[in-house]
Amino acid sequence: MITVKVDLGERGYDVLVGHGARHRLLEVLPVGVKRAAVVTQESVGVPVDPGVEHQTFLMDDGEEAKCMETVEDLCRRFARWGLTRRDAVVAVGGGVVTDTAGFAAAVYHRGVPVVHVATTLLGQVDAAIGGKTGVNVPEGKNLIGAFWQPAAVLCDTEVLSTLPPREYLSGCGEMAKYHFLGGGSGLGGSSGGGVGLEDLPLDERVAACVRIKADVVASDERESGRRALLNYGHTLAHALETAGHYDLRHGEAVAIGLVFAARLACRMERVDEERVAYHEAVVRGYGLPAELPSGAEAQLLMALMGRDKKAVAGLTFVLDGLRGVEVVAGVSEAVVRDTLHAMGAA
Ligand code: GLY
Repeated sequence: MITVKVDLGERGYDVLVGHGARHRLLEVLPVGVKRAAVVTQESVGVPVDPGVEHQTFLMDDGEEAKCMETVEDLCRRFARWGLTRRDAVVAVGGGVVTDTAGFAAAVYHRGVPVVHVATTLLGQVDAAIGGKTGVNVPEGKNLIGAFWQPAAVLCDTEVLSTLPPREYLSGCGEMAKYHFLGGGSGLGGSSGGGVGLEDLPLDERVAACVRIKADVVASDERESGRRALLNYGHTLAHALETAGHYDLRHGEAVAIGLVFAARLACRMERVDEERVAYHEAVVRGYGLPAELPSGAEAQLLMALMGRDKKAVAGLTFVLDGLRGVEVVAGVSEAVVRDTLHAMGAA
């Protein structure tokens, strides 16, 4: 089992990564917890035993279930069961469950401890780590939420083998992102001998991604700066997802967004063609798409990217460059449009 620490002082915690990590639940529950409310979905199908009195609270499937109604419903059911501040919530599932149950834990009794048992690759390398919790409203995704760090995260790589192939692939999109955030060759430091994420077996690769995210989160818990780098590839990805009519999972959209960001950076002379080719190779190496979906419309995507909530001045992107990946505001609309057209957008 690999342990990665998220170093946030008194809010710090361990992330356990490995085969069978879900069986370590009792030892990571905060000391003194007597009861656990296990929140999951029927479709997750990963039983856990917290080793203390517990009750399972099912929530619905799908992104639509990540809403205030579910949070209210969970909190009311917690109350009827008698969950107290000395107890804990255990969220078992992918990002929809950990975001929603994490937010319920953040607001119930003004905050009860939560442990995430991440059962999807996307959850293990991103959603469950770092304390972002929240739900969607019709006006936008994740608009209501709280930073609420978990007491621990269990990333059980055993359960990944039962994921639907496309769900697994979606997690690979977030994993691909880490290749450009410190996961390229040289990952092992001076003694690493040119080792990159692509050279690692699954457990170690997940742990390496968690380590990169933990380091970023520890340096900027509330996203006042560096944490925004975790959105590499996400500006176009969110636009593709918001457009709603492209058949893309989140990680697939991120993969396309990474290649787009590299091509945009190349047009802006921040990186060379070789670096673009490396982005494409990483993305394709995971079997992810590197091209825009057919029918992609530059005008619509530009409008949606302009509304990105991370935008600080004009079109804002996370872009690669000589100093590594950084936030770049005020990117020329013409260059963005040309890059989309060069990738086949109408
Ligand atoms: N998923 C991006 C973040 O946690 O900041």
